[in-house]
Amino acid sequence: MKLLSATLDRVKPSPTIAVTTRAQELRAQGRDVIGLGAGEPDFDTPDHIKAAGIAAIQSGKTKYTAVDGIPELKQAICAKFKRDNDLDYTPAQVSVGSGGKQVIYNAFMATLNPGDEVIIPAPYWVSYPDMVKLGGGEPVFVAGALDRGYKITADQLAAAITPQTKWFLFNSPSNPTGAGYSWDELKALTDVLLRHPHVWVLTDDMYEHLAFDDYRFCTPAQVEPQLYDRTLTMNGVSKAYAMTGWRIGYAAGPQPLIAAMRKVQSQSTSNPCTISQWAAVEALNGTHDFIAPNNDMFIRRRNLVVDALNACPGIVCPMPEGAFYVYPSIAGCIGKTTAAGTLIESDEAFATALLDEAEVAVVFGAAFGLSPHFRISYATSDAALQTACDRIRTFCDGLT
Ligand SMILES: Cc1ncc(COP(=O)(O)O)c(C=O)c1O
Repeated sequence: MKLLSATLDRVKPSPTIAVTTRAQELRAQGRDVIGLGAGEPDFDTPDHIKAAGIAAIQSGKTKYTAVDGIPELKQAICAKFKRDNDLDYTPAQVSVGSGGKQVIYNAFMATLNPGDEVIIPAPYWVSYPDMVKLGGGEPVFVAGALDRGYKITADQLAAAITPQTKWFLFNSPSNPTGAGYSWDELKALTDVLLRHPHVWVLTDDMYEHLAFDDYRFCTPAQVEPQLYDRTLTMNGVSKAYAMTGWRIGYAAGPQPLIAAMRKVQSQSTSNPCTISQWAAVEALNGTHDFIAPNNDMFIRRRNLVVDALNACPGIVCPMPEGAFYVYPSIAGCIGKTTAAGTLIESDEAFATALLDEAEVAVVFGAAFGLSPHFRISYATSDAALQTACDRIRTFCDGLT
């Protein structure tokens, strides 16, 4: 009998982690690698949030809690949804998990049956298709295109819906493109969903606060209140609050769905870390003053990277509305040969050669379901970004 489950055969390990590992190996060999692969802010958790975690430890808030979150955090989450998104939820409609990732995983485990389809706009966050497969479902991809800012159209969404569609998975601003749907663009999609009452909406709003320039974040149940009863609105503290290691994510939606997700979590991890939950209460209820200056910094870095990449022969880089990623096209590099003699036949070959020959680690587009592209996370210092872009420029200049 085989040891490993058949379900696991359908799942691949995270390619973003693979890139980080390869970059670490090269660094261990003494190579000066600049890593632009990791999807987390380079600044520290704000002090008032850390203090809340420390206070939780010191006051003995170190025991098990209710499976899907302490009442204080659920209350803070309801207040956040009202304040930021004009959405009314009660604490019984809220589920807190160990990161946004667990919340999405719980939702799929709780709802998917074999043959159920989940529509995922591409490019997508690497974990979505594999989480769908772990839940026994089938990912169905709808491709965005560079000339539409990587956003999908209403017609594309309509064409992808079948009687088997269970979820439409939406992510804006997006990882990996930074694309943010405007109210009107999202309304065009929610109008389609209104015509298909059997389709549920899972919206991953993780990058809500990382919205730049004139872009205004919006979320499906806010844009189309008639979808409220079949929408799971998911969010978390990992990105905007620089709390990736604290592992707190949350979602709100119809009570029977939330109860089913609680059942999954009760037989897997139980409650998310108690100390982190108290820190998240402070994150949501406390000052948000640090977000605007952080966004100013991200905007500066985004502009630096977009300008530098567009100056590289063979690369076209659109300007994203949010998150901390850019997703340039390398269509103009495919078929060329590097100065060291490597043929660039795919975006994976491009990323591998860039790491080996120019010592810059990026993630290739095939990992996110749209080629030929690569993703840069610009959540790192201006100096590192400038040096990385100079190296990419030299690399591209050397292609023949
Ligand atoms: C789009 C998106 N959703 C969810 C997550 C997961 O966040 P967490 O670290 O809270 O599990 C990430 C993390 O990279 C992400 O990019």
